[in-house]
Amino acid sequence: MKIEDYLESLPQNLIIGDDVQLSDKSFREIFNFVKLGPDDIFYHLGCGDGKGVKIAIEEFNVKKGVGIDKNSQKINLAKKNPGEFFCNDIKNLEFLDATVILFWFTNEEIINHIMEKFELLKSGTRIITIWGPLPDCLPDKVNFPYIINTVPFKKTSSLQEQLLAIFGVKCVDFVTAWEYAERYTKAIGDPAVKNDRFLTIIQTLVIWINAKNLGVACREEIPESIKTYLNIMKMHFDIEFEHLLK
Ligand SMILES: C[S@@+](CC[C@H](N)C(=O)[O-])C[C@H]1O[C@@H](n2cnc3c(N)ncnc32)[C@H](O)[C@@H]1O
Repeated sequence: MKIEDYLESLPQNLIIGDDVQLSDKSFREIFNFVKLGPDDIFYHLGCGDGKGVKIAIEEFNVKKGVGIDKNSQKINLAKKNPGEFFCNDIKNLEFLDATVILFWFTNEEIINHIMEKFELLKSGTRIITIWGPLPDCLPDKVNFPYIINTVPFKKTSSLQEQLLAIFGVKCVDFVTAWEYAERYTKAIGDPAVKNDRFLTIIQTLVIWINAKNLGVACREEIPESIKTYLNIMKMHFDIEFEHLLK
């Protein structure tokens, strides 16, 4: 089965991210990285149960903490925490006073819509994204998978340039792909999960194949370790990736 069909077979509320909640540990790492502090007005877009806003207020002493989520059950839970919470689609609201925004979305329609609002924010506003930067932008700082994009955005027209800025290397080989895949699963995964190797292998293959297709893999030929994992996925799990290679 193709990797796309495998992903399709998993619970879609997790795959599209609607029921994904960052752990307290991830929030603390993100807030330390972005140097969240008492001068900040913090917004969490897609705030879920409001844990992020609570930690921002109680542990990082932000001046104001705001959470927005379209799911009313989640917002009802969130309202038990300190902070201001709004049940709405993030596309409908303004956040012009923000100095730090946590924005973890992969849905292109939402991202493109929200970019217009982000462009209007005060100079110096930091927007944290996870895994990738905002579209066509070069990140300001990277502690993979956490990425800080600062207003006004530095634009790039090249996906290659973006990818290399994120990985901090001149080209992507197996070791880089594996290291970053592992960082991602460790950073946002549940700390209690013991065996996340399967996910790391999938992420590694996806990173390397994307790098290859964008012309930034270190070598033209497929590295032995990538070949080995492609075979393991095919033989033991019946999951195929080769068709993704252009
Ligand atoms: C990790 S975030 C983002 C998930 C999103 N589906 C994506 O594009 O990746 C998950 C949270 O965002 C909320 N959410 C998803 N779409 C939203 C929207 N358009 N406006 C406000 N909250 C939203 C969900 O209810 C959930 O609590």
